[in-house]
Amino acid sequence: MTRLIFLGPPGSGKGTQAAVISGSYSFPHISTGDILRQAVSQGTELGQKAQTYMDRGDLVPDELILGIVRDRLSEPDAKTGWLLDGFPRNVEQATYLESLLDGIGQSCDRVLNLQVSDDSIVKRLLERGRKDDNEEVIRHRLQVYRQQTAPLIDFYQSRQKLVSVNGDRSVEEVTHSLKAVVNSLAH
Ligand code: AP5
Repeated sequence: MTRLIFLGPPGSGKGTQAAVISGSYSFPHISTGDILRQAVSQGTELGQKAQTYMDRGDLVPDELILGIVRDRLSEPDAKTGWLLDGFPRNVEQATYLESLLDGIGQSCDRVLNLQVSDDSIVKRLLERGRKDDNEEVIRHRLQVYRQQTAPLIDFYQSRQKLVSVNGDRSVEEVTHSLKAVVNSLAH
């Protein structure tokens, strides 16, 4: 049973690596960004509420996110492990997750922190060109990351969960390092 959190700035490769790792080890890849983008494309109430925040590069309010994660983690496929990508995104979300997991007798095994320079991030995201991938919004997402998400590095470091990985390498090299961490977990 493996439970992982992928942490890192926008464009650090969380989604790319999460897809590879969850495919290799057969546990679900739970991406709050993907869940929100699907809600936006389906025009649901959640999607309508979330869209303006996402377009600006701001975090969607916690009250829209926490219940989604709670429900997703209670689905049958998450009983034997999971990989969270893009959640938690601030200390409030991390504290919520910790008490949610405590309540069901679980905890996360490792928080994998992908480190990538701002220059590589801007280059990668401009090349991808998602709706929130223009230079102004990318810079804002980086600022939001530094202010709200980066404090989670200390949060998880103090709980001896954090492993930092250099994400400024080829996809394959980063995957290799991540797999070494996953394989080192004795389950
Ligand atoms: P989210 O979807 O989580 O976006 P993000 O964190 O900004 O991350 P990205 O998807 O841009 O990057 P990534 O690290 O996954 O990198 P990727 O693998 O895609 O969130 C979007 C929005 O939703 C947020 O702004 C917020 O509004 C909202 N939201 C989501 N979760 C939330 C939460 N918990 N609370 C509140 N709001 C929330 O790679 C990026 C590009 O780089 C790709 O083109 C890829 O092919 C390329 N690439 C990947 N790895 C490499 C490599 N090693 N070398 C070269 N290129 C690479």
